[in-house]
Amino acid sequence: MASQLRAPKGVSEYFPPRSDAFLAVRNSLARAATNAGFGYIELPVFEDTALYVRGVGESTDVVSKEMYTFTDRGDRSLTLRPEGTAGVVRSVIEHSLDRAGLPVKLWYTGPFFRAERPQQGRYRQFYQLGVEAIGVYDPALDAEVIAIADEGFKRLGLTGYQILINSLGDAKTRANYRETLSEFLSRLDLDEPTRERAKINPLRVLDDKRPQMQELLADAPLIGDSMTPAAAQYHAEMLGYLRELGIEWVDQPRLVRGLDYYTSTTFEFVHGGLGAQSALGGGGRYDGLMADLGGQDLSGIGFGLGLDRTLLACEAEGIELGRASTCDVFLIPLGLAAKSRLVGLAAQLRSVGVRTDLAYGDRAIKAAMRGADRSGARLAVVLGDRDLENATAELKDLTSGAQATVDWTDLISTIQEKLA
Ligand code: HAM
Repeated sequence: MASQLRAPKGVSEYFPPRSDAFLAVRNSLARAATNAGFGYIELPVFEDTALYVRGVGESTDVVSKEMYTFTDRGDRSLTLRPEGTAGVVRSVIEHSLDRAGLPVKLWYTGPFFRAERPQQGRYRQFYQLGVEAIGVYDPALDAEVIAIADEGFKRLGLTGYQILINSLGDAKTRANYRETLSEFLSRLDLDEPTRERAKINPLRVLDDKRPQMQELLADAPLIGDSMTPAAAQYHAEMLGYLRELGIEWVDQPRLVRGLDYYTSTTFEFVHGGLGAQSALGGGGRYDGLMADLGGQDLSGIGFGLGLDRTLLACEAEGIELGRASTCDVFLIPLGLAAKSRLVGLAAQLRSVGVRTDLAYGDRAIKAAMRGADRSGARLAVVLGDRDLENATAELKDLTSGAQATVDWTDLISTIQEKLA
C-alpha cells in the first residue's frame, strides 16, 4: 500500500463544517473594515527576502528565525510572507497608490507563514485579516483602526478580550529611550545572543518571553518616561478619541510588539480563553516604514488579526458561527428520466438563490435519504416514474417528516415559500 501523505507539521486547515465558522469570522472582520472605507488589496504570497529584512527588521524573531526563505530557479532569494504590512507598503510605493489622495486605506486577508514551534493557536501557516491606513498622521485615525478591530470582534459576539495600548513615541522619544534602556541593559548579565540583539535594537530585548529574562527586566525603564511633550500629547488625544468611541482599554507601558517598524501608538487584543497564544491581533503606527522602503516619507497605521485564534476564541466562548447545513433542498431522483429532470431543477433553484444538492450516483432511496439528512437540508424532493407521468413531485419536510405531492409547475414557488 502506498504510504499515507500528511499535511506539513503545524499548518492550519479548515474543512466542513468548521470551515463555515472560519468564513464567518473572516466576513465579520472584513465587514468592519469595508464599513470604514477600506479598499481590498490582494498581495503576492512571496516577496523578495530583502523586503522583510529591511521592513520588519533583522533583530526580530520573525526575520532572524522564522522566515520560510528559498532560492528560486533564477537564483533570487524569496520569502513566503510572514506578515502583511511590508507587502502593502511595497505595493503602495511600486504602484504610486499614494498619489491619489491620502490616506490610502487598504485591507487584506490570506495565509501567512512563520517557522514557529507549533502549538494550540500557533501555526506555521496561519491566516490574518489586516488593514493599513497610509499617509495621515492623526490620532483619530489610530482610534478608528482600533475601533474597527473591536467592532469586528463584537460583531462575532466575542466579549472575553482586552485591548492593551502603549505608545512608542516619536523618533526623539525612541532615541532618548534607546539610550536609557541600553544603559540599563549594559548593567545586566545577559547571554551573548541577547547582548547582540540589544546592540541592533534594545527594545527587542523587552519582548523576550523567557521567565528569567522577564524577571531581569522587571525594573527596566519605561518608554513613557522618555516621551517628548509632542508624543505625549498625541497619545493623550488618541486615548480621548477611544473614550469618545466608548472603547475600553488597558494601559500596557511595556508593550513593544515583535516587529521593528512600530512607532507611536501600539496595541494588542488579548483573549483570556486562548492559553499561551493569547494575542488575537495587534498593530500600531509605522511612521518610518514608507521612507525606509524607498517611498515618500509618509506615516502609516494598521493591524493584523489572527483568524485562527479568533475562531478558537469564539469556540472557547461557545459562540456558534456559520451554518450547520451545506444546502437547503436535497433532490432525489428515482431513475434516469427523473435524474435529468432534477439536474435541471437544481440549476433553476440555485439561480434563484436556493442552496440545492442532488443525490448523485444513482443510489437507492434509503441511501439517498441518508445523504439528505447528512446535508442538513430542510426539504427533500423525490421524483419517481409516477411523478413524471403525473407532472408532480414528492416534497418532504425533513424536520417534521410531513410529505406532500406538489404540481411540478408549483414546485419552485412552494419550496421558496417553505424556506422563507
Ligand atoms: P503580529 O502581531 O506579528 O503583527 O501578528 C498579528 C496576529 O497574527 C497575531 O496577534 C496573531 O493573532 C496572528 N499570528 C501571528 N503569528 C501566528 C502564528 N504563528 N499562528 C497563528 N496566528 C499567528 C503583524 O503581523 C503586523 N503586520 C500587524 C500590523 C499591521 N501592524 C501594522 N499593520
